[in-house]
Amino acid sequence: MEVIILNDPEAVSALSARRIAQLVRAKPTAVLGLATGSTPLRLYKELIRLHQEEGLDFSEVTSFNLDEYIGLAADHAASYRYFMQENLFRHINIAPERTHVPSGLVAGPDIARYCAEYEEAIVRAGGIDLQILGIGSDGHIGFNEPSSSLASRTRIKTLTQRTREDNTPFFDNPDDVPHHVITMGVGTIMEAREIHLLAFGDKKADAIADAVEGPITANVPASVLQMHPTVRLFADEPAASKLARRDYYRWVYDNKPAWQAF
Ligand code: GLP
Repeated sequence: MEVIILNDPEAVSALSARRIAQLVRAKPTAVLGLATGSTPLRLYKELIRLHQEEGLDFSEVTSFNLDEYIGLAADHAASYRYFMQENLFRHINIAPERTHVPSGLVAGPDIARYCAEYEEAIVRAGGIDLQILGIGSDGHIGFNEPSSSLASRTRIKTLTQRTREDNTPFFDNPDDVPHHVITMGVGTIMEAREIHLLAFGDKKADAIADAVEGPITANVPASVLQMHPTVRLFADEPAASKLARRDYYRWVYDNKPAWQAF
């Protein structure tokens, strides 16, 4: 795992955006895996700036989002489809039909078939070239809560009370946070060719330390990223503050040869 720690969340988000821009310029049909939550907001702002000011072209890009709340329609202000429209899609030239966010309105026995079709669509698109991830304070990725199988595929999950509480700021009322979600599985995420894990703030420090330096365990689903060959962690100082080897990671990054930079 390449660990990149900078003081400023803007600066570290801009680095992730720069790598995404490099990928999209080299491969205009790139498939991006996208995440929601407060963490990727700065990254999306920078992608929008790159599109508007530097002509970064998303017209042939395809996207797949990690997850969605069951029961929320696309026009619900807390739905992840709404989040993506407002914070990225409507500001760039991505083709609406090439953006995929799981539907929150599939119900009952249809969910398993719908999830299998979501997986098939990812395969048909050629697989995910670069997946953006945030991390839950309990170490979850997507909505793969602790105890999720590390081989899991897209499916329905039940949120923990802690995750529901963490997500209350996005809802009018804490009771409105759904209990159920559709999420790409840990195994699905691990098939992305490159992964950017973003983490900001001291609330993420324990999860990041466990994910990067702890044992690989389903109790911390993000820890499985240690098994992926091309993961970059983009963290600010508070999120990285509990990493035992943070001085080493800083030295490696500060002394990176220019030819390795992106
Ligand atoms: C939710 C999302 C995750 C996200 C996490 C952290 O659980 N499903 O994809 O990483 O929240 O959210 P935030 O970035 O707001 O801290």
